[in-house]
Amino acid sequence: MDALPLTIAIDGPAASGKGTLARRLADYYHLPHLDTGLTYRAVGHALLIHGLPLDNVSAAETAARQVDLKKLDREALSAHEVGEAASKVAVFPGVRQILVDKQRAFATQAGGAVLDGRDIGTVVCPDAEVKLYVTASAEVRAGRRLRDIEARGGHAELAEILADITRRDERDMGRADSPLRPAADAHLLDTSEMSIEAAFQAARTLIDNALAKRNKA
Ligand code: C5P
Repeated sequence: MDALPLTIAIDGPAASGKGTLARRLADYYHLPHLDTGLTYRAVGHALLIHGLPLDNVSAAETAARQVDLKKLDREALSAHEVGEAASKVAVFPGVRQILVDKQRAFATQAGGAVLDGRDIGTVVCPDAEVKLYVTASAEVRAGRRLRDIEARGGHAELAEILADITRRDERDMGRADSPLRPAADAHLLDTSEMSIEAAFQAARTLIDNALAKRNKA
């Protein structure tokens, strides 16, 4: 295994497959992984459980300061309304600054890390050795989300999921601070017609090539 630190930045819209890919890459390269979406979800969740409005900036900043990366509970934060709340509090620059500082501290630990989110390659880790931008058509992403819900015994309407995904894309890509977009030096991985296995192999090739180039330099 490569001795130099390796930071892998993965960005992309909701249900693009970036989370699954990030976990597989972290496992393969023996790197710690942070799903930065959970940090925004933790803030949205804190406001929801205290019955506070999602546009209460100072409460959101207080909740952001209290986020502990070691205590992020994926299960508790996975609900759909928590994701919606997350994308609403994620527009506030003060909230972003507090969370980005915590995410950078994670990213710069010895040995490196894999981080996934919306602004990892552009803002959190602009010097990451490898940047991936994982995307898929909104229709394909909605279909994946529906299969996930059904696999857990739930029920949902494809048209509603598609409308949610489109609204979330607009909010994440349209905000003024750190909008979702590929970094200039990101590798694009369109998973619309690609299995997660194929996406993993493509990412692995890109990362191995970057490591080989660095070792030659
Ligand atoms: O990826 P996930 O769906 O958990 O993210 C929830 C929301 O958190 C996103 O819709 C986005 O608004 C916000 N987010 C962000 N920057 C990140 C990660 C997530 O703004 N790095």
